[in-house]
Amino acid sequence: MTIYLDYAATTPIRPEVLECYVENLKTLGNPSSVHSAGQKVRRALEEAREELASSVNCDRNEVIFTAGGTESNNLAIKGLFWKQRDSDSKKNLIISAGTEHHAVIDPIEWLEQHEGAEVIWLKVNSDGALDFQELETLLELRSQEVALISLMWANNETGIITDIKKVTELASNYSIPVHSDAVAAFGHIETSFKNSGLTAMSISAHKVGGPVGVGALIVARSAKLVSLTHGGGQERGLRAGTMNAPAAKAFALAASKAIEELHAESARLQALRDSLISKVQASAPNAKLTGGASFRMPHNAHFIFEGCSGDSLLFLLDQQGIEVSTGSACQAGVNGPSHVLVAMGRSIPEAYGCIRVTLGSDSTEDDVNAFVNAIPKAIEGALKAGIVNTGAN
Ligand SMILES: Cc1ncc(COP(=O)(O)O)c(C=O)c1O
Repeated sequence: MTIYLDYAATTPIRPEVLECYVENLKTLGNPSSVHSAGQKVRRALEEAREELASSVNCDRNEVIFTAGGTESNNLAIKGLFWKQRDSDSKKNLIISAGTEHHAVIDPIEWLEQHEGAEVIWLKVNSDGALDFQELETLLELRSQEVALISLMWANNETGIITDIKKVTELASNYSIPVHSDAVAAFGHIETSFKNSGLTAMSISAHKVGGPVGVGALIVARSAKLVSLTHGGGQERGLRAGTMNAPAAKAFALAASKAIEELHAESARLQALRDSLISKVQASAPNAKLTGGASFRMPHNAHFIFEGCSGDSLLFLLDQQGIEVSTGSACQAGVNGPSHVLVAMGRSIPEAYGCIRVTLGSDSTEDDVNAFVNAIPKAIEGALKAGIVNTGAN
């Protein structure tokens, strides 16, 4: 039997969501067709938009369905950047942080390389908290040049939560658009779009019990973006292509369920997670919890195991039937140190030695105990293997 403790990577699809998805897949019709079959699917799509809008706390026409978090981030970042620079050529500066997901870092670096954008990566402290003073000073000095700010709501590796309202309050003094990657936060903590002051917010279905391959970019009605795709002009002209009504329905249902259960489930998972942290710290003296505990996602525990490689630990835990994640950058099969920990000022060996445990709907105290029981053997093996390929201190 395996124990899945990697809910931040993806979540099991809820049975009722799967049923809804399959049922809707059986319905024939293109939502853009004017005949009855098309209009039936259009109605399903619009119901999904309405339902998702209520979970996000936004207007229904602010929901732009996409193929997931990565696409939403690309649309927000490139779309806002291009629109801003088209309107004023001075607006060439993007502000973000080094702890962002690669689905934010990479489109920004792409704009830097291909569009001559200037980028400033804000500093975070060793707890992962953003340097708001740096942001404030930067805006005071260079607000005229800022095309957009993109900062994640919750970090997918460490679970550290950013005060997004504080970011939008600072930016609003200069009418600078703010995008937030809320993929790791939505459905787990409160993320009201209306209250956030955001211009755009990315969310993804498979992090909340929905299917992989569907997400949304929530775009404020007043916001202007350039579309990345051109074709049929669907989704307010921001996402051309036949809309995926079955996936939208499934996403909307999964989101409703997640929001309905949010308070009870986050309290349950937080208690379970706190028990896991104290048990790990009692049994593994080389375990160091990363990040500030007071502003961490309720289902996330992220440790550095000194002297170990996260990859070895992951492998040795997997052999014992425990599925966790290193949370480190793993691109095209090449594992590297966690760029998030590096941005938090951790050493390279530390950034290689982390394990992320994320709990979810099926997690129990038995799962926590199984992880805690498996960890000493995994540490013993990982210490023997040592850390290879660190390249530096
Ligand atoms: C914070 C964050 N942003 C974006 C993504 C990408 O989302 P998707 O898998 O839907 O493309 C992920 C997924 O791991 C994530 O955790």
